Amino acid sequence: METIGVVQTFSTIATGYLFHCENATVKVELFNAHTIRVNAIRNNKSFEDFSYAITTPPSKTEHQFFESNEQYVIQTEKIKVLISKTRLRIQFLTLQGQIIHQEHPSFGTGWFGNEVASYKSIQPNEIFVGLGEKTGNLNRRGSSYTHWNTDYFGYPTNGDPLYLSTPFYIGIHSALCYGVFYDNTYKSIMDFGASNDRFTTFTASDGEMDYYFFYDDNIAGILKHYTALTGRVQLPPLWSLGFQQCRYSYYPDKEVINVARTFREKDIPADVIYLDIHYMDEYKVFTWHPERFPNPNDMVDELHRLGFHVILIVDPGVKVEEGYPYYEEGIKKDLFLKYPDGELYSGKVWPGTCHFPDFTNPEARKWWGQKYKIHIDNGIEGYWNDMNEPATWGKRVPDVVEFNYEGIGASHRKGHNVYGMQMARSTYEGTKELLEGKRPFVLTRSGYSGVQRYAAVWTGDNTASDEHMMCGIRLINSMGLAGVAFAGYDVGGFAGEPSNELFARWIAIGAFSPFFRCHSMINSRDAEPWAFGEEVEEISRNYIKLRYRMLPYIYSIFYEASQTGMPIQRSLVIDYMNDTNIYNNNYQNEYLFGPSVLIAPVPSTQMISKIYLPEGGWYDFFTDKYYEGGKEILIETGKDKIPIFVKQGAIVPIQRAVSHANGDPGDTLEIHIYKGIRNESFVYYEDDGAGFDYEDGMYYRREILFNPKNKSLTLKMKEGNYHSKFKKSRVFFHGYNETELHPKIAGIELDIITTDYRFVAPVTDFDPWHYSTDKSKVIKDLYYTKIELEDAEFVLKW
Ligand code: GLC
Repeated sequence: METIGVVQTFSTIATGYLFHCENATVKVELFNAHTIRVNAIRNNKSFEDFSYAITTPPSKTEHQFFESNEQYVIQTEKIKVLISKTRLRIQFLTLQGQIIHQEHPSFGTGWFGNEVASYKSIQPNEIFVGLGEKTGNLNRRGSSYTHWNTDYFGYPTNGDPLYLSTPFYIGIHSALCYGVFYDNTYKSIMDFGASNDRFTTFTASDGEMDYYFFYDDNIAGILKHYTALTGRVQLPPLWSLGFQQCRYSYYPDKEVINVARTFREKDIPADVIYLDIHYMDEYKVFTWHPERFPNPNDMVDELHRLGFHVILIVDPGVKVEEGYPYYEEGIKKDLFLKYPDGELYSGKVWPGTCHFPDFTNPEARKWWGQKYKIHIDNGIEGYWNDMNEPATWGKRVPDVVEFNYEGIGASHRKGHNVYGMQMARSTYEGTKELLEGKRPFVLTRSGYSGVQRYAAVWTGDNTASDEHMMCGIRLINSMGLAGVAFAGYDVGGFAGEPSNELFARWIAIGAFSPFFRCHSMINSRDAEPWAFGEEVEEISRNYIKLRYRMLPYIYSIFYEASQTGMPIQRSLVIDYMNDTNIYNNNYQNEYLFGPSVLIAPVPSTQMISKIYLPEGGWYDFFTDKYYEGGKEILIETGKDKIPIFVKQGAIVPIQRAVSHANGDPGDTLEIHIYKGIRNESFVYYEDDGAGFDYEDGMYYRREILFNPKNKSLTLKMKEGNYHSKFKKSRVFFHGYNETELHPKIAGIELDIITTDYRFVAPVTDFDPWHYSTDKSKVIKDLYYTKIELEDAEFVLKW
């Protein structure tokens, strides 16, 4: 290995320091007190500062710099960075001197030919999590992964690599946590002590060693810093948080309308119907099949009347065909990928032989983005970019193929992993412009770190098995740990056919995933929520309705994600990283949906399940039964019931069920609070859910504070100029009994409405927010009624 060698001199630059070494130059840049970049290049190379992932430049960071005989020290308000002079090695320490993370003393960073590698010591009992769309366990220790976006139909549940690469992980040891992002788009391997227990390695086939180190007190902080750098999900259109129905493929138009109508007739809420590749004429992008969809505008209008949005699949391959305008224009404008000798690259996909726009060329992105006009004019607001690894039938794009790479130029080796992300970007930016003020929705299969700025991501072609259902849940947990907060899996399984039990279980869990869509493969059985018999239909309806009832909560947590990078689906590691039980194979799939709803996914074959409740107190969502946390419990998990628990002290705003996200939720916001012991808060957020006026202050944001000791609930003064769609609120108390509630608000006596004791509601009245579904239990509905929602601060005391 060619090493960096001894440090000879150093120099100061505006953003940090350059260490000039025997064989290489190492730039250490301070992005902020928590974020440090290390960029090493060999002395015959120059620094390349362009990155598709990074959105934010370094900011002026207060720090101290010392030099001793052995080392240099850079110290921010949060981290001490030690740079040893012999064989340059970097260590990151707490201000108290505890090692957080360090380059391996013997190997450090270096090169094997063009391959660049960094070796980091494994700390005692260190755990590694994150890495995005990677199969395997929550704890990555002992595994290794490749970053090379790959079309992988029906991948096994240990398959690697899949479609998306986000080389960012979080290390946990000694009650400390940190993050490392290796910003290198070449094919790379990340090894977490797979074959030894000495070091982790990151090895890229070429490019620079360019990594970012993040340190904070908790994982939420690490995610905040990582997403400050690579971007956060944007507020999505509200409709995209509803239920979405897909299949490969619904056609003709009558069939599409028929499916949409059936949702309404059957009273199953839904917002989206997808058109997969058969809507096109010979699979040619930006066309319609003349017989199957003779009048797309009429169809889309009818779907809008039914409260549906349409999402179209748009793949990157442009069919090679004389007279096809997109092919001819792409050639004329020189926007397709080419070989260095000028010949166009061709690969086979659905339409046959295709050329591929070079989405790393800004001109090509713009061109492609504008092409959506034809579909925006059809009234279509959502787009699904598939096959953008890019995938060609069983073949790899040859390495020699050239990419524009923002004018810098690169071969396929460097361009491959960002192709999908840049396609999603082109779609996002193009449709945003064309939609003139409405929020676009983009779904992508492939991407690289930062893709979250442009698109939601789904986990590709899974299969209909319990194992895959659980694997998908872990993938979304881990994507949430890599900035990709808006993500989901094909509910029901893409390939193969689920049993009734599996479908029911999958849809129940899917209702608590960020992106909620059913999808299935061509030539497979019908897989709509009503296709599995009445009982499963009922279960599907119930859970989909629950999802819609929770929209005020869900939208607020998307707002949080857009502000802080906190995922929607939160692996338990985020809040309980020091609890070894959460890494147990049986419990590693559990997650919090938002801050306070715990989902313990279990296979459909399990009718009684052992689950783990982390420390604190938990209420069974269905019965309000209280459980002390830090324990394993056995719980019944019938066909219609997945384990859901609400955290003690939770504040959960919900609404009445609607048939689609923009349906009328009535005038009452329900605020559910669960008795707790500590002060808690929740930021409630609302806006028009459709456009960008929130950027100009048209939002409604209010902090809700719950003080169980003082027995008060405070709605802080409203911020923003938007008027809430809710005029009133009802507060529901969970974990309280009647005698604990004394209604007094500013001298006004309020009624406590105690509804009659109710026995189990029939399944058709599935309403766990209010009634027990547990036959042996009766629960009582305790709430204050008719609180007028005013803009000023409002305190409810009891
Ligand atoms: C790919 C996608 C799948 C889609 C199919 C046809 O396999 O992953 O979701 O249905 O192509 O377009």
